[in-house]
Amino acid sequence: MANKLAIDGGTPVRDLQAKPWSPWPLNTTEEWESEIEPKLREVYLSATEGIAGGKAEELGEKYARYSGTNYAVLMPHGTDAISAALAGALDLDGFGDGGEVIVPDYTFVATASAVLDRRCTVAFVDIDPDYFTIDPEAVEAAIDPNRTRAILPVHLGGHPADMDALRQIAQKHGLALIEDCAQAHGAEYQNKKVGSLSDAGAFSFQSSKNLTSGEGGMVTTNDKDIGDRVHAFMNVGRAPGGARWEYPRLGWNYRPSEYLAALLLVRLEKLEAQTDRRNANAAYLSTGLEEIEGITPPKLAPWVTKHGYHLYCIRYSPDGFGGKSRSKFVEALSEEGIPCSIGYRSPLSQEPGIAHVAQKYPHLIRETPCPHTEKVCQESVWLFQNQLLGSAGDMDDVVEAVAKIQRTWC
Ligand SMILES: Cc1ncc(COP(=O)(O)O)c(C=O)c1O
Repeated sequence: MANKLAIDGGTPVRDLQAKPWSPWPLNTTEEWESEIEPKLREVYLSATEGIAGGKAEELGEKYARYSGTNYAVLMPHGTDAISAALAGALDLDGFGDGGEVIVPDYTFVATASAVLDRRCTVAFVDIDPDYFTIDPEAVEAAIDPNRTRAILPVHLGGHPADMDALRQIAQKHGLALIEDCAQAHGAEYQNKKVGSLSDAGAFSFQSSKNLTSGEGGMVTTNDKDIGDRVHAFMNVGRAPGGARWEYPRLGWNYRPSEYLAALLLVRLEKLEAQTDRRNANAAYLSTGLEEIEGITPPKLAPWVTKHGYHLYCIRYSPDGFGGKSRSKFVEALSEEGIPCSIGYRSPLSQEPGIAHVAQKYPHLIRETPCPHTEKVCQESVWLFQNQLLGSAGDMDDVVEAVAKIQRTWC
């Protein structure tokens, strides 16, 4: 039975009842009593649950320090954070044509929808096949001197994009550079935290993210003018520290609740240790997986001094598995007690939500050839950040499950 696959009625490598994966978030009664409840209580008893409560500012200061930036503004969602970062970096009020923004075709829908939300148009470009992040050469080839205004790389799965190359291109062509850091809390490019490597960074604290408050987001920047514009976007046009009924700019109400900030203040303290643990487990897991033909563990670019590991992205080749399809492999691995996914099923430009926009408003979307994105969409298998919070024994289970599938199919 031990060698019969779980999808064929055998015993799984990992019995999820007996050995569940680390939950996410890592909520415990102990943490609630000692840390979370006192922080939420402070907000509650202060009776300032929103504006002027002080916790959002405190978190902003701590997050700026953590990410090595001068300013950080809390937002209700990561999508809003991208919109606000664009509004800040490009000084967009959202009424006129905002110009074109170049984004990778391998990303979550919000990277593009936030651009459209700011009345910008989108140019989709290809990714680097090894790192799954935007390909600087494809970016430069796609620049339209009459339209392009910004480059929006995504640190996909927590792997930092090639920021030096992108910054050089941005400077050469007079473009803004904005990082989508939604999946990359704690990641470092040459020892510098993501979010500090461009005009502005946008983070998400949505429930799956490596730092979460259920929903939430953050914009980071080193530039005071951008920081002020982001603040105005978030707080009905007010200046930081400005008077309540004075609106030097036009803005919206994207103010977060103080409860959100209180929760994040506790969890931010734990982010670095968790990131280090994910990195250690990922390195160990990759050592085991690279021995298995047909599996390519995530590759790290030379500039990565710390990965964010929101995702652990493997590439699967049927050649190593008796020709069995990737979807069959994902099914088999899941049944062995190793949760996994194919991830983004197609380039974002091909997703109906975007394709319909392109059909109805062709001037809003520009596509460029993206063969690497298409291939990655066909070959990738994702494991998730919470699995990397476990023990070395948990990583051994992943390797054993993959090896078992190979033994059975080959
Ligand atoms: C790459 C990327 N960008 C943006 C977002 C949007 O963040 P949110 O869901 O908090 O709006 C997400 C996550 O959901 C994401 O993965």
